[in-house]
Amino acid sequence: MNEPKKKFYVTTPIYYVNDVPHIGHAYTTIAADVVSRYKRLDGYEVFFLTGTDEHGQKVHQAAQQNGVDPQTHVDKLHQRFKDLWVRLNISNSDFIRTTEARHTQVVQEILQSLFDKKEIYKDSYEGWYCTPDERFWTEKDVVNGNCPECGRPVEKIKEYNYFFKMGQYGEWLARHVRENESFIQPVSRRNEVLGFLDKPLGDLCISRPKERLPWGVSLPFDDDYVAYVWFDALINYISVHGQPGQVRDCGFWPCDHHLVGKDILTTHAVYWSCMLKAMDLPPPKNIFAHGWWTVNGQKMSKSLFNVVEPNLLADQFGVDVIRYFLLREVPFGLDGDFSHKALIGRNNSDLANNLGNLLNRTLNMVEKYQEGKILEPSASAPEDQALADKASETVQAVAALYDQLAYNKILAKIWELVDQCNQYINNMGPWNLAKSEEGQTRLTRVLYNSCEALRVIAVLIYPFMPESAEKINQQLGADFTIEEQGLRSIREWGFLPAGLQTRPGPQLFPRIEEEEEKKIMEQANAPSAPAQAEDENKTEPVAEQIEFDDFTKVDLRTGKILEAEKIKKSKKLIKLKVDIGCETRQVVAGIAAGYEPEQLVGRTVILVANLKPAKLMGVESQGMILAGSEGDKIILAGFDHELNPGVRVK
Ligand code: MSP
Repeated sequence: MNEPKKKFYVTTPIYYVNDVPHIGHAYTTIAADVVSRYKRLDGYEVFFLTGTDEHGQKVHQAAQQNGVDPQTHVDKLHQRFKDLWVRLNISNSDFIRTTEARHTQVVQEILQSLFDKKEIYKDSYEGWYCTPDERFWTEKDVVNGNCPECGRPVEKIKEYNYFFKMGQYGEWLARHVRENESFIQPVSRRNEVLGFLDKPLGDLCISRPKERLPWGVSLPFDDDYVAYVWFDALINYISVHGQPGQVRDCGFWPCDHHLVGKDILTTHAVYWSCMLKAMDLPPPKNIFAHGWWTVNGQKMSKSLFNVVEPNLLADQFGVDVIRYFLLREVPFGLDGDFSHKALIGRNNSDLANNLGNLLNRTLNMVEKYQEGKILEPSASAPEDQALADKASETVQAVAALYDQLAYNKILAKIWELVDQCNQYINNMGPWNLAKSEEGQTRLTRVLYNSCEALRVIAVLIYPFMPESAEKINQQLGADFTIEEQGLRSIREWGFLPAGLQTRPGPQLFPRIEEEEEKKIMEQANAPSAPAQAEDENKTEPVAEQIEFDDFTKVDLRTGKILEAEKIKKSKKLIKLKVDIGCETRQVVAGIAAGYEPEQLVGRTVILVANLKPAKLMGVESQGMILAGSEGDKIILAGFDHELNPGVRVK
């Protein structure tokens, strides 16, 4: 009888449906995909969950702006994520949406049962409310009447709400974190959570009055309220398996890894663990908080036009190169910086030069010396054994590194094997062996070993680059897929059957030559990325504090727009001539999504006058105009009354 398969469960956050998917989202999802594929190769039954978070104020507002009901709005928007995951070859088992009945029903069942168990109570609450952030603040949090997170004015509100008795679980949770080293990773994040739990844990407000927010899951015990969006969203991880009773029996709980960004660690480590405790479910085995990607050293933001779109990258470089780069470049857990230059560097060195070259030279030699056939190898010599040993050591090391989700180290380890195999070929010198009869016998072993090493490498890189790995496998002439081979096929050297006829194909990882690199860099520096990829459901936290003197360094001036014209080939940019009193400036502004050129002429705007000139789409911009945005809409900053050009704004 077959043993039941071991089970493995990994999740990504569910993404806010209003967002345009960017590399930050792709990063977590690819990371989850890699570990899922690896576990499948290892014989596990894997459940890999992703999805979209579809309730909340911002979704409601955006739907209203578009003149559609929120359900129609989210039905349309969530598709962008689904499509991207297909494009990036993501092997998720399910895609959950928080507006689906299978989810909302479970949320309501949980709410009702926690209410019945007196884990939820009603109380009045008075506090400072930030409407755009949908968030209450205490007196001491508020900064000069403004929200400490987004800087906008807050108002005092008193209302009745429902609270989850989270505070009672604080001590239990701190103990659990302390006693389970791998519960929160990496260590630095675990320490943050412990620091947070040093202070007494409060109860959690889990409702919003419908008069303020009608778009959410109704509380089953009070129809005037909807559930707080996080209370609703976190439940996705179990609602996909049914009610808590079914979750207990499904074999996938506790979840092996919740992969999350560092910004949403507290909601997972604290809110979610306490919610589960109240439901009598064990906490997840691991919550791994990864770092954030910046772009060329800057925060990714629509106002900087530097949002990196995975679809565009996939067009330029191919899916596997992106999957490889994101996980190779930066240790999972640390922040990383994205640049096209670094991506091209990795493509050319690791992929084209090292791995690509190993594949090409091996297949060329099999073609040239053995008519494309992998022959029965002659007996092994000690130097052959060294390669086989390295392969076996790599397989073991990789397995241990997966337990830590140390993706970049896994890849570095695999590339040691690539290098050693390239070195092995250099040392053995097949081109010399081919010259004598005795040498030719020895050659069968050298070429067999090179092919077998390539097969081991293909299996190992499959989780990261599934398509390329299968291609290597096919080029080696295998008539079984990598999934069929599984990890067991690389635990011992020599699984590759002799007699296969190789099928050399096109280069797997072509080098990006200088000319092409130049073109890519030019395109990358042209700020044409769409303007709404930032998280729409959150407002950015306030940036680091600066001194007053720092602020006065920024020379803000009023300017009158004299001319305006669209920049060809750009959907976003308009070229302006702006009179700033002492001189006229040419400014390129990303405001075409909000304004037609003719609406702009004669308008007074605020200009950063001492910004270093920069080229946007090849056109020089001598300043920057201040504007805000709401979803896709760009709104220029201005004044109640007309001011002359050149007035300093302070
Ligand atoms: N909807 C919530 C999650 C609910 S989970 C029950 C949410 N969504 S989000 O769309 O705003 O963010 C999803 C994930 O994207 C988070 O893990 C966040 O850290 C990640 N990223 C957003 N920008 C990022 C980068 N620039 N870099 C890396 N990851 C980033 O929060």
